[in-house]
Amino acid sequence: MIAPDAPILVFDSGIGGLSVLAKIHKALPQAPIVYSADYAGLPYGEKSEIEVATRVCAFLGRLSERYRPRLVVIACNTASTIALAHARAVLGVPVVGTVPAIKPAAEQTQSGVIGLLGTKATIRQAYVDRLAAEHAEGKLLLRHGAPELVAAAEARLRGETPDRDIFTTAIAGLANQAGGQRIDRIILGCTHFPLVEAELAEAATAAGLDAHLRFVDGSDGIARRVSYLTDGQSWPDHPVEGIFVTTGPVEQIAPYRPALSRYNLTRIMSL
Ligand code: DGL
Repeated sequence: MIAPDAPILVFDSGIGGLSVLAKIHKALPQAPIVYSADYAGLPYGEKSEIEVATRVCAFLGRLSERYRPRLVVIACNTASTIALAHARAVLGVPVVGTVPAIKPAAEQTQSGVIGLLGTKATIRQAYVDRLAAEHAEGKLLLRHGAPELVAAAEARLRGETPDRDIFTTAIAGLANQAGGQRIDRIILGCTHFPLVEAELAEAATAAGLDAHLRFVDGSDGIARRVSYLTDGQSWPDHPVEGIFVTTGPVEQIAPYRPALSRYNLTRIMSL
């Protein structure tokens, strides 16, 4: 029997997972949340596969012992495409991963050309090759690694205004590839990127991309999956204060506090 106060553990290298948490909140407003950010390891996108897999499993193991979650959401494409199978093998609870939304993008595209923005580590994964082969056969999938968007999303959540050139460069990384001008779907294959979608949309318009261009991410599908896996379980009677856990110093989180409180994450702790 799962206790009503057993949390859902949402995990990312930084604040990117908030784009996923927003959808979980909408679907399950009573769910107790522990959100964990591996700030001591950010950015994952610049690390090797073995480093990411080791960190993710060690970190999730420690968090699971401390918080006894009913379910874990790896709200990070880099961690999921590298270490989802490892995490599932070592944790005793269901683990939901976040992987680039190639399937919905391939179903929606009219032009047959899809862009994928992710971290450098994500776009080179065999997991992504498999998703493309299974769901996007006959479509052109253009990939671009845009690590600077991770830093831009972090800055935005601290209340800063990131330089517009960052978004122009990221969009150009797709648009300037052969066939890039015909892109009508861009997959935001890093959970940080939906947090700067408005800026990316502005840059896409300025680059002259299709007026019907849409951005696609996997967060709605993850919220549906979490609802399905927790169906019939009990929850607290009213929303409870969310916990934010960082592997870095707690003081580093001060500028993020206003943004975090909008996600009901008001108890800040270090691991
Ligand atoms: N938010 C992570 C993702 O979805 C990546 C950020 C990082 O490079 O650590 O891929």
